[in-house]
Amino acid sequence: MPFPVHRKRRLRVSESMRRLVRETRLEPSQLVLPLFVCPGEGVRKPIGSMPGHAQLSIGELVKECETAHTLGIGGVILFGIPESKDERASGAYAADGITQTAVRAVKAAVPELLIMTDVCNCEYTSHGHCGKVVGNDVDNDATLDWLAKTAVSHAEAGADMVAPSDMMDGRVGVIRKALDGAGYKNTPIFAYAAKFASVFYGPFREAAESTPQFGDRRSYQMDPANGREAMHEMELDLEEGADLLMVKPALPYLDLIRQAKDRFPVPIGAYQVSGEFSMIMAAARNGWIDQDRAMMESLISIRRAGADVILTYFAFDAARALA
Ligand code: PBG
Repeated sequence: MPFPVHRKRRLRVSESMRRLVRETRLEPSQLVLPLFVCPGEGVRKPIGSMPGHAQLSIGELVKECETAHTLGIGGVILFGIPESKDERASGAYAADGITQTAVRAVKAAVPELLIMTDVCNCEYTSHGHCGKVVGNDVDNDATLDWLAKTAVSHAEAGADMVAPSDMMDGRVGVIRKALDGAGYKNTPIFAYAAKFASVFYGPFREAAESTPQFGDRRSYQMDPANGREAMHEMELDLEEGADLLMVKPALPYLDLIRQAKDRFPVPIGAYQVSGEFSMIMAAARNGWIDQDRAMMESLISIRRAGADVILTYFAFDAARALA
């Protein structure tokens, strides 16, 4: 019984009507804000390609986390920029490393705020790769030990959740075992399970000073053409003990967010990465697009695709818009 019996416009007549039948909702509690922490005091060094974002020294970071808590956002994920980098990524797993120190400070100041930490080596290696470089390649198995030590050191500092983003094979299992062995049985692992070798990480690499000094990350991050392989990556991470599974980036991979949601019985995360944020900001600053509407439309689309949790640089703006 098509038109004129069915008129889809009836349920679109007013905002009250549209609100009643809206299928997907967005709440601040579903958003996670990425933050960059650096050494020093009173530092707030703006990231050129990410308006509104900055490298923050610990005191400034704490202020940002207080705001995050006040706005009711789901949590923060911390990325550390160490004083110095070396071949062994020693700053990644140092007990008094930048991330570990930052976690302690934030936990002390805002204990209720959920703190996640990115577990990776690329911000800490002199060559900018995510693991131990042997010859011209990143050695998978030799890197696992660094990752396990890093995850445990973050948990020791008080992180509520660890998020490995390096894309080495087997790291979730090794991290689970190390956390359990150190007494952190209840620390969940949020696996960057389907992480693609994406051009959209460009602004982040400026922010985190983690651009590889030679080559690229295609021998460990995924080929953007591969969706079935993404499902296999997620299946393996789940078997190894991942508690949440992430797809990254978000908008170019909505199909995979949906497939993951239909397939796996754990919360699905999506990372709206730096380049996705910067594109919207750049267009908005040129007057070519409405910033708030582009932000909300992209976030609701990521939710509609199936993401339970969204890591996004829009977390503050979106939470304010939703308040
Ligand atoms: C670390 C890491 C990256 C991002 C998150 N964790 C960079 C990369 O893999 O090069 C990207 C986040 C973003 O672009 O916002 N390995």
